[in-house]
Amino acid sequence: MEEQLNTDLQPYNTFGLPAVAPRTIILDNLADFIAHTTFPMHHFRFLGGGSNILLTANPTDLLYKIELKGIEIIEKKEHSSVVKVAAGENWHQFVRWSLDHQLYGLENLSLIPGTVGAAPIQNIGAYGVECKDYIQSVEVVDLSNGKLLLLPNQVCAFGYRDSIFKGSARNKYLISAVYFELDHVAKVEITYGDIQKVLEAARITAPTPHDVSDAVIKIRQSKLPNPKEIGNAGSFFKNPVISKDLFLQVKAKFPEIPSYPSGDNAVKVPAGWLIEHCGWKGFRRGQIGVHEKQALVLVNYGQGNGASILELAKDILNDVSQKTGIQLEMEVNVW
Ligand code: EPU
Repeated sequence: MEEQLNTDLQPYNTFGLPAVAPRTIILDNLADFIAHTTFPMHHFRFLGGGSNILLTANPTDLLYKIELKGIEIIEKKEHSSVVKVAAGENWHQFVRWSLDHQLYGLENLSLIPGTVGAAPIQNIGAYGVECKDYIQSVEVVDLSNGKLLLLPNQVCAFGYRDSIFKGSARNKYLISAVYFELDHVAKVEITYGDIQKVLEAARITAPTPHDVSDAVIKIRQSKLPNPKEIGNAGSFFKNPVISKDLFLQVKAKFPEIPSYPSGDNAVKVPAGWLIEHCGWKGFRRGQIGVHEKQALVLVNYGQGNGASILELAKDILNDVSQKTGIQLEMEVNVW
């Protein structure tokens, strides 16, 4: 584990925001980390792929950059295989690795930026699939005593963009690896979003998981800005889940609003739609703005800073709340 001083964090966050970490440890060996760390740990931060953070200041805590690597099939069952993936592996490369090994289920989650270890924290999801659907368990180091634990899926309390790692177990664990149970025979989920349309346009009638992955990549590339070109952290806000009563009030004002049922008495509505219909899509304020093709995504055109993005996010939250009565929540972690 190498220690670095005054690390420039601009290349390590997909918003491309400037910040400097006074002390950074490259966490590339789990045994060394456990052996050389004093537990309980205090004043630290973990950085994965930097694709879900908004840097508003220089971190003062010791930063651990997670670079644990390794993908291993550890159990072959009749219909599925269990794969152990180290936290520092790139998510999309792992998805493509799984398809190349005829292990299916994650194809709809292609091209999501970030690392495997960050995936369970907010239970990444897209096109009708969430990573929790294929997570068997999560390997963690308990930061109070340095013990290695395996948390089964149920214990992680996964929800929409949510888990214990964001709630009761926040800062309690280092996620060191994730165990996935992947199918030998593909189920192929193409009912959500534009997947079907893209497959039809390519005249694919019996899509393989590789075809689905390629279609998802195409859709994401057409709607979402490439962080290498325009800084961003994907969806900045969560899609709000609101009561049916509130939904009916909003629908009276905005009859076209799309909605998805969510449990018995609740409805999920697309935050991107609300933000667009409050007039913010494509809005630009100097070096920052709201993406022109997807209003859920805030962007840094190059020289923006985290504080101004946070200010813009708050302006959007207030405006949407005033105009619709719906209180949006941020999905991105503010540092
Ligand atoms: N919409 C608008 N205007 C916009 C954006 C969206 O009217 O500017 C409408 C769309 O027309 C559609 C609905 O909102 O009717 C939903 O849009 P879309 O399918 O693009 O999905 P989303 O709800 O905006 C969510 C995830 C994305 C994920 C897509 C596809 C969240 C917060 N975001 O976006 O995840 O890729 O579904 O499944 O749940 C991410 O988390 O970073 C992310 C990109």
